[in-house]
Amino acid sequence: MKLDVLTLFPQIITPALQTGILKRIQESGELVVNTYNIRDWTTDRHKTVDDYPYGGGAGMILKPEPIFSAVSAMHPTEDTEIIYLTPQGVPLTQSIVEGLSIKSHLIFICGRYKGIDERIRKKIVTKEISIGDYVLSGGEIAALVLIDAIGRILPGALGDFESAHEDSFSKDFLDHPHYTRPVEFEGMKVPEVLLSGHHENIKKWRYTQAIIRTAERRPDIIKNLELTDEELDILREDKNN
Ligand code: ADE
Repeated sequence: MKLDVLTLFPQIITPALQTGILKRIQESGELVVNTYNIRDWTTDRHKTVDDYPYGGGAGMILKPEPIFSAVSAMHPTEDTEIIYLTPQGVPLTQSIVEGLSIKSHLIFICGRYKGIDERIRKKIVTKEISIGDYVLSGGEIAALVLIDAIGRILPGALGDFESAHEDSFSKDFLDHPHYTRPVEFEGMKVPEVLLSGHHENIKKWRYTQAIIRTAERRPDIIKNLELTDEELDILREDKNN
């Protein structure tokens, strides 16, 4: 996958890609990230990237010309997804991440200030994505969130391929609790079943915990799932205890 990031602040993006899984996946060649400064596509002496909004009001707007030129220089094809990061976009989910992870070319446009000229959205942006209902000072951190979420599920990113499929959100439920040594810490013991070596019982316990945890923390997720009779029983039993 080739991923081009257009920003006024490449220095936010570049260092974050040099550690851990993101570093490894780039070294493997599965992911190539290029970060470009939008200012490099200005043509005037002052390298102007923004201007006052027509109609008045506070804040500056990113001008269309440099961004049109920059995107064009990335040679987008029919398959390229051109993504603008904005609180007005569709809320990011794991299923959107999975959809993007099978594309061959992504272009991220990071805004700053009051936003971008509407003609950029109309003519070149193919998807607008929000990472949550709050306002960041620019799209860079949102782009990093997306790059991280996509990068870690690309083939070869995780040492153990299985673990991507065991994630909460990759399945329907949140993750179950995890324990490691010591077996007792500050009076708190690891649940007996996890020490039993009985794989079927361990699986059942984790599954039960995942369902209960999801119902407690994210009733919105539970509401949208078609639960099996077994899953409904687990929740009923939990309520009675
Ligand atoms: N840019 C500013 N705020 C944002 C958000 N919540 N999501 C994506 N991009 C943004």
